[in-house]
Amino acid sequence: MNRGEAIVLIGFMGSGKSSIGRHLAQRTKLPRYDTDEMISARFGLKIAEIFVRFGEEEFRAAETDALGQIPARPTIVVTGGGIVLRPENVEILRQLGIIVNLAADKETLYERVSRRATRPLLQTENPRATLSEMLRLREPLYREAADFAIDTSVLRHEEVSDAILKQVQELRSRTRGSYDG
Ligand code: S3P
Repeated sequence: MNRGEAIVLIGFMGSGKSSIGRHLAQRTKLPRYDTDEMISARFGLKIAEIFVRFGEEEFRAAETDALGQIPARPTIVVTGGGIVLRPENVEILRQLGIIVNLAADKETLYERVSRRATRPLLQTENPRATLSEMLRLREPLYREAADFAIDTSVLRHEEVSDAILKQVQELRSRTRGSYDG
């Protein structure tokens, strides 16, 4: 399969996808596509409200639709934490470009997601246990989908962006034949 020229960020809620995506877009001057923002704009609602009014399945379908609208050009793609749940989404992401798994340890993720109550799937009686269980189920999916991973737990945004750009460049030069084909 021909891989596109996007840099795609995947990873659990709180792994830093949105902030790093903004940072990378600023650094590279590439346009940024954030699936949560695209869906929110389409519905004219916040993500939490979409879950309440339409349910998770409708949201997941909207995620796949949003991915289909991202142009096959050099871009920065930011995804929601559940994007890897649908294998067809992972296929689309692979076609768009190089997939980076932003990881972080459980405590860091919990601390980051606790700052805001914007994540409908964590509004449970025991959000720590929910996070733990979701992470256990999803970690293998992130690992399998990604070309490489960066642990964001202790790094500053600049450091994460630097590491991503360096690895993307290395990967592209190693596989130049198949990308430029
Ligand atoms: C979700 C993650 C959220 C958002 C929605 C569902 C998930 O995005 O898409 O609340 O299933 O992990 P972030 O990863 O940006 O928080």
